[in-house]
Amino acid sequence: MSTSPPRIAGAIAASAAVHISRDAAPLAPSSTDAAPATRRISLALEDVSKVYPNGRRALADVDLVVPDGDFVFLVGPSGAGKSTLIKLLIRDELATSGTVFVAGRDVSRLSRRDVPRLRRRIGIVFQDYKLLPHKSVRENVAFALEVTGTPGRQILPAVERVLALVGLTAQADQLPSQLSGGEQQRTAIARALVHEPRVIIADEPTGNLDPLISWEIIQLLLRINELGTTVLMATHNAEVVTALRRRVVALEDGRVVRDEVGGYHREY
Ligand SMILES: Nc1ncnc2c1ncn2[C@@H]1O[C@H](COP(=O)(O)OP(=O)(O)OP(=O)(O)O)[C@@H](O)[C@H]1O
Ligand SMILES: [Mg+2]
Repeated sequence: MSTSPPRIAGAIAASAAVHISRDAAPLAPSSTDAAPATRRISLALEDVSKVYPNGRRALADVDLVVPDGDFVFLVGPSGAGKSTLIKLLIRDELATSGTVFVAGRDVSRLSRRDVPRLRRRIGIVFQDYKLLPHKSVRENVAFALEVTGTPGRQILPAVERVLALVGLTAQADQLPSQLSGGEQQRTAIARALVHEPRVIIADEPTGNLDPLISWEIIQLLLRINELGTTVLMATHNAEVVTALRRRVVALEDGRVVRDEVGGYHREY
């Protein structure tokens, strides 16, 4: 049980002064769990712990507030809980205790119908791209809109717009097997972006890429952030984290051990 909502509210008030709120409409009208004050926050964890069914505690007493517009690196050694934290945000797993807020909503209270709507509010990018192998780049991105019932006439312009943003217009008709790793990841980012999400959550998006291509992907995520989308990115890429001087949240053994602007500090 969460016992201290005022902490989140305080953080929200502090962030409101420096962060401009984007679309703040909750996923669905709710008078119980979408307090207006939470709407300037993209993501928040309040005293969150996660114990898996086998007894393994992956997160312990985690507090984290990510205001709209932030760019956050999530770092820590293997097994520290980075992917678990991300799984809680996308409601792949539920917290054992504490509260997880995404776009102003307590994710544990979403109805079954609201879960896919939540996932449209967040663009999700994984290390292994997860593209449909028999669909072209364009079809992979379009599919994300088709499954949510977007009217056909809106799909093509939206797809072309994001393909241009990620620099894949020329490869639009190619299959994933005909793309480099970096191009496959850019396709996955285009797919994540096509719903115009408020936040992009990426779990080691450069984990399979060489250093030069990793930098290209990071530059793309920075550009997306500059255009107004919040970005939370788990990574082991110490060089990138150190060079960019962005907010770094470090986990160790399931706990937040550091949350500050700056470098990577340790080789994980
Ligand atoms: N489904 C699961 N069931 C039981 N334990 C799990 C499960 N998923 C993860 N764990 C455990 O929880 C801990 C945190 O795992 P997690 O995958 O979140 O770490 P991570 O920081 O993402 O690591 P990496 O950098 O290797 O990706 C680990 O000890 C892991 O073994
Ligand atoms: Mg992981």
